[in-house]
Amino acid sequence: MDRSIRTVEDVLRLLDGLFASGGDRWTGGAAGWWDDFYADRDRPVPFFAAKPDENLVSYLDRGLVPRGRALDLGCGLGRNALLLAERGFEVDAVDLSPAALALAEERARAAGLDVRFLRGDVFALAADSLRGPYRLIHDSGCFHHLPPHRRISHLALLDRLLAPGGYFSLACFAAGRMGSELSDADLYRAGSLGGGLAYTPEALRHVFAGLEEIELRAMRSQPPDSALFGEPFLWTAPFRRPVNGARDVHPRG
Ligand SMILES: C[S@@+](CC[C@H](N)C(=O)[O-])C[C@H]1O[C@@H](n2cnc3c(N)ncnc32)[C@H](O)[C@@H]1O
Repeated sequence: MDRSIRTVEDVLRLLDGLFASGGDRWTGGAAGWWDDFYADRDRPVPFFAAKPDENLVSYLDRGLVPRGRALDLGCGLGRNALLLAERGFEVDAVDLSPAALALAEERARAAGLDVRFLRGDVFALAADSLRGPYRLIHDSGCFHHLPPHRRISHLALLDRLLAPGGYFSLACFAAGRMGSELSDADLYRAGSLGGGLAYTPEALRHVFAGLEEIELRAMRSQPPDSALFGEPFLWTAPFRRPVNGARDVHPRG
């Protein structure tokens, strides 16, 4: 008989387990799933190319996000971590997949860029190994792979690691263009994340209500010869944490 639940974290882990089968990209075999995904570097996956997100470049070019410490959350092959290091940020980049990090490290070495890569579940690392506060936390494509209950962990991470006045920038599946549109409850009933969750702008505003919205728009499509990554099935948004901390990022209760 299992009576192990005592803490909120115990409940979150139990809910993780509901998505552990069927090749989902979360928990159980998640690191293995992503490792297999990255194993063939020559696959024509758009985000395998060493091109940074067009929206992130535009924030930096416009001086929207001042230089400082940055976290690339679910960095994959390090496209954006490398850009940030090149632009003078002190970068921590975390991913579950050793295969992804091996290639990201190779790319950083070849470019002579200094990035601190860490392997593991970013939410577990947030509790000890990550040295916040960060001026910028960038999440390109990780958030939409989280099961609904792990939004709690995501918000707790922002609460703990994002500096007052710091920026959280997001790229995630846009409803109607990419991702599962099942309701949160139906995702649990299905026991599958359906390859990633679609979000509407209203849903993003609801989740990140503790942050100030700066600009929420679709990513701008890029031609094949562009040096930037741009897929219009993604919403992009920088949000800013209020300086006076009047609002918590992570709502209590
Ligand atoms: C769609 S990929 C995007 C990779 C990269 N951000 C990019 O845009 O090129 C999502 C990444 O998130 C990573 N990931 C998912 N859950 C994670 C977690 N809990 N902790 C760290 N990385 C995670 C996966 O390993 C994968 O590399």
